[in-house]
Amino acid sequence: MKKLFTSLVLLLMSAQTFAQKSEDLAPTPPMGWNTWNIFQTKIDEPLLKSMVDAYVSSGMRDAGYTYFVLDDGWMGMERDANGQLVADPKKFPNGMKAFADYVHSKGMKFGIYNCAGTKTCAGYPGTRGHEYEDARLYASWGVDYLKFDWCNAEGQNARESYMLMSKALKATGRPIVFSLCEWGSNRPWVWGAKAGQLWRTTGDIGPYFATSLTKDGWTPQNVLSILDKQDSIRQYAGIGHWNDPDMLEVGNGMTVAEDRSHFSIWCMLAAPLMAGNNLHSMSEDTKTILTNKEVIAINQDPLGVECFKYYEFDGIEILVKPLAKGDLAVLFINRSDRSQTVNFDWAAHIIQDKTSNTDVDFSKTSYKLRDLWAHKDVGTTQKAFRQTIPSHDVVMLKLSK
Ligand code: GLA
Repeated sequence: MKKLFTSLVLLLMSAQTFAQKSEDLAPTPPMGWNTWNIFQTKIDEPLLKSMVDAYVSSGMRDAGYTYFVLDDGWMGMERDANGQLVADPKKFPNGMKAFADYVHSKGMKFGIYNCAGTKTCAGYPGTRGHEYEDARLYASWGVDYLKFDWCNAEGQNARESYMLMSKALKATGRPIVFSLCEWGSNRPWVWGAKAGQLWRTTGDIGPYFATSLTKDGWTPQNVLSILDKQDSIRQYAGIGHWNDPDMLEVGNGMTVAEDRSHFSIWCMLAAPLMAGNNLHSMSEDTKTILTNKEVIAINQDPLGVECFKYYEFDGIEILVKPLAKGDLAVLFINRSDRSQTVNFDWAAHIIQDKTSNTDVDFSKTSYKLRDLWAHKDVGTTQKAFRQTIPSHDVVMLKLSK
């Protein structure tokens, strides 16, 4: 009897290890760096090794970034004679396993990219019809994260295609975060949590090139229009499964104020934080933004609730993110082209949110205020908050009981 009980326990334990829960793989939004936004397909081993080194020396790793992800363009143009994917031998002369080992040796996790269709978006071999063998190959290289795109997938059913790859990854027995990149075309927020840990909610944040970002400045068609699409799907995100409004453009050409706003908004959205800048040559301003631990802590808050739009008037928008222990984060964004002064009388406001059971009446409960960019305590909610916010900039506050 005792023996039967022991083997039953062992069986249950191994079934549990096998069916790794998404909560375990990404209890908070994944953080990392991805090659695409800055380098597109112009990647190779020496360049990327220098990025791995800079990931560590810049303090990104110590600020909580974990994944180092190779996006499109790492492969050769054809599968080999056995039908296996191969790393482009010119770009990665030592092969992908050696590169993955290098990433791991520096204390990071390794991510890679492919596509559910017949070819990737940049025209390299896609995974369609090779799901299980590709998953096994990635596991043998030590891949910890797979971004799976949606180009050249005409006639495919999105949900089925992503579920198939999800099963293939699980069958390897290696925990691999699965990042669904189907751009929100088939409402992945409804079914994505069954397949993976994060799903893109929109098209690309691009333009990718710093010059066009500079020309477009604040790029409202990107950062702000992406923000405006998130409110109606916020309830689908939660611990272990995240809405992904695309990777970061911090350090790629917007102004410092705009970069600060972009990063603050992504943190409020509980978005995966995938930096996409040149880590080797980043400015002090960029580093300060990407490694602000107080702001990152809002993104990584264990309650796992995405912010909601509380108020918008005359170009000032206020986002509220409920946090663990009844705390709150509040972001004031100046979307307008002129400097504006906010005068926010907390006592006149009640904040309610069904998704997180939040019900706050500031006339009854007082909170301490901390400015997360100035790193300063700035009083309590008993007094109106007054501050001038430059155009396209933000003020980010944490409210603690
Ligand atoms: C799509 C994705 C991008 C990037 C490119 C690579 O556009 O949405 O994030 O991965 O493909 O080709």
